Amino acid sequence: MAQRTKAVVIMAAGKGTRMNSRTTKLLHRVGGRPLIHYPIEVGIALEASRIVLILGHQRAEIETYVKRTFKTAPIDFVVQEEQLGTAHAVQCAQPALEGFEGDVIILSGDVPCLPCETLWALDEIKGSSPLGLVSMRIEEANRYGRVSRDIQGHAEAIIEFADCSEDQKKIEELNSGIYQVDAQFLFGALAKIDSDNAQGEFYLTDLVAMAASKNQPAQVLALDARDSRWAVGVNNRVDLAAAEAQLQLRVKNALMLSGVTMLDPTRVYVESAVQVGADTTLGLDVTLKGHTKIGEGCVIEQGCFIKDSEISEATTIRPYCHLEGAKVGPKCTLGPYARLREGTVLDSAVKVGNFVETKKAHFKSGSKANHLSYIGDASIGSKANIGAGTITCNYDGYKKSKTVIGEGAFIGSDTQLVAPVAVGDGAIVGAGTTVTRDVPADALAISRTQQTHMEGWAIRKRAREHPAKKDV
Ligand code: UD1
Ligand code: MG
Repeated sequence: MAQRTKAVVIMAAGKGTRMNSRTTKLLHRVGGRPLIHYPIEVGIALEASRIVLILGHQRAEIETYVKRTFKTAPIDFVVQEEQLGTAHAVQCAQPALEGFEGDVIILSGDVPCLPCETLWALDEIKGSSPLGLVSMRIEEANRYGRVSRDIQGHAEAIIEFADCSEDQKKIEELNSGIYQVDAQFLFGALAKIDSDNAQGEFYLTDLVAMAASKNQPAQVLALDARDSRWAVGVNNRVDLAAAEAQLQLRVKNALMLSGVTMLDPTRVYVESAVQVGADTTLGLDVTLKGHTKIGEGCVIEQGCFIKDSEISEATTIRPYCHLEGAKVGPKCTLGPYARLREGTVLDSAVKVGNFVETKKAHFKSGSKANHLSYIGDASIGSKANIGAGTITCNYDGYKKSKTVIGEGAFIGSDTQLVAPVAVGDGAIVGAGTTVTRDVPADALAISRTQQTHMEGWAIRKRAREHPAKKDV
């Protein structure tokens, strides 16, 4: 069967009162992205020729997010000033679909876990009939619309919960609010829908009875209890947590199937934009957020938090490291307890050890800072060694300045590098030095005072201060 052209309409004008929030429901996040992100992504995956977003509450904020995130998608924004019901919402999209011929897929902005596969299946089932819809079965039927079928089993109507008789409330087949409708049928029928019902709203669900009355009953993709999990919407924060759990399941299963090992997937949190390469192992309580990308063959050990960072292949991150905005090359070793802040760049085989904090620091290949240091606004030459307790003094209270350390340089323990300052290639800085001037290549810099000894001084002190005590 020839594929029909598709448009996607996303209803997103409601406030989401049951979230009890100052923020509109659709900007609440699952998998690190606002709810509204997901149906748009579905629209793009379906190669919809147009995606129409119907906005109302906090539309400026939603529009800003969508424009920033989906720069090239064919998205139109339309406004539904007053939320008079779902049929009215879709009617608001009509001008944006002027001249469109084909099928309109109608989604709700608050169903973040819906996979494209469901819509491919809906397309199959709908065929050339005017209307297809997805029904579901879930334990808590709550306020969902009920799918009423005639004796032949054809869908004859959807009855909204508020309009249900006690018997109708017992119907277990529920409306998911996901539809595929022939555009011509849709806009013809919408014009005829009234608000003569318990809620005084224009119900999109009236389309089902209208199709049945034309002897072209809606074709229903009836999801079983298992698949229904993916079609459930978010109405309150309990649903939000459930959606997050569903999405986590999907994201982590996909990673595991692509070759990522997780010691215990229930103890790993991975946001939906994160990428992880094959043969990488994620330990317990690892959190991967934002646009993090991890290459192949890495080991990320317990308790690491990694956000908006890129990690190349075969790198090991020992327990409890914190990375944000960092770029880590291949075969590096980090931690335990390292903190890499924004603008940290590590080339290959770099070692950054425990209690080392880095910011806007470029470590070239093979360089090391193994213990207790702060390296900020710095460039570290290849194979340079930064001793324990080294501090780049990059801030004078007004501005930041840079420290440059040459190739193969050796910085002794407890050194302060007062920036702007440079240490030349191959230079050695003695332990405890405060470097305030540039150090020439291959020189020794040392600023500590000479060590002197006063013979017997300790004995005399004890005799003076504690005469009663016998000396050792
Ligand atoms: C709707 C369906 C119900 C179905 C349920 C599935 C109707 C009449 N009922 O009910 O059968 O079981 O979804 O979740 O369609 N919206 C607008 N403008 C409006 C009203 C709603 O944009 O005027 C948007 C909302 O922001 C939301 C979506 O449409 O994204 C669904 O609206 P909601 O109020 O949640 O409808 P339900 O009562 O849940
Ligand atoms: Mg709803």
